[in-house]
Amino acid sequence: MNDWKIISTAAVVPEKIVTNDELSQMMDTSDEWIKSRTGIERRHISIGQNTSDLAAAVGRKLLAQSGWAAGDVDLIIVATMSPDSYTPATAARVQGKIGADHAVAFDVSAACSGFVYALTVASAMLKLPYFNRAMVIGSEVLSKLLDWHDRSTAVLFGDGAGGVLLSTTPDHHVLGADLASFGDLSEKIVAGQTTVAADFPGPVTEVTPFAMDGRAVYKFATHAVPASIRRTAADAGISLDQVDHFILHQANARIIRQVARRLDQPLTKFPININEYGNTSAASEPILLAECIEKGMVRRGETIVLAGFGGGLTTGTIIIKY
Ligand code: ACO
Repeated sequence: MNDWKIISTAAVVPEKIVTNDELSQMMDTSDEWIKSRTGIERRHISIGQNTSDLAAAVGRKLLAQSGWAAGDVDLIIVATMSPDSYTPATAARVQGKIGADHAVAFDVSAACSGFVYALTVASAMLKLPYFNRAMVIGSEVLSKLLDWHDRSTAVLFGDGAGGVLLSTTPDHHVLGADLASFGDLSEKIVAGQTTVAADFPGPVTEVTPFAMDGRAVYKFATHAVPASIRRTAADAGISLDQVDHFILHQANARIIRQVARRLDQPLTKFPININEYGNTSAASEPILLAECIEKGMVRRGETIVLAGFGGGLTTGTIIIKY
């Protein structure tokens, strides 16, 4: 049975930066409140580029870095909660844009856990004979789902995309994975709610903006994420001390510090870039991973935990040897 290894990583964020001070001109908030409650200082906001545009830019970067041709890719999975459209899948658009003619392409919807869910789906598919080379991308344009007058959500999110190229290998690289879903808490984070007409013929549905019970999600994350990481490490037969880096979903710097405390691990093992990008949902982990690898902070042979949490509610952890 094959494992996979990461061949290359890449991230793309929109050029436009919106600072906390700029947001405080638009709504009743302040740089001090946002920084102290979340760690966010600025975010990148897409002007004109949709989710598949950012994802395709990541795809092109991944191919250029690896030397693979587009035709080498067997599988494209995009994790997103902000697709361009209900159909086609964002991944299908990416396939078309990069010319990956024979790839199978589809999306995974698990909000901020999406990247880990997509990697886990790719893991299963890469054990099948047909699939040897996969592109897994987390891409979000959350700015199009935000109510820019709602300070309780608008200050938290940003746009961006990141991804990895995976190739099968006989070596043991995927040490463990753990996915969990909590549908009884599904109303705690809702975006893009559709309506069904009460009459026939009804109006075309209008989707709702992002809404979240922030306190409930905070409490959920600080308990469910450490539990998920502990379960995965135990199943993999490794101790947390053997983990070199914890690449956590960047939703709130306070959540990351709390998870580090609960796992009794030094904060130095938990890289943070939420200050620059805000919460980019499914894109946050691959963006952070790509940055850490580019800066030489994450090196070949090291053991990495990738852990996400969010809408669903969901949690997902995967432990890999890079
Ligand atoms: N600026 C100023 N004041 C604000 C703002 C703002 N942007 N937003 C809320 N407030 C006010 C509130 O109105 C409240 O005022 P009150 O005390 O007068 O009622 C006060 O600040 C405290 O509000 P809380 O919501 O209790 O603030 P909290 O410390 O919980 O921080 C936050 C809010 C940052 C959202 C936090 O709860 C959090 O990070 N939760 C987790 C969110 C998360 O992780 N989401 C990830 C999943 S998202 C996904 O899946 C895509």
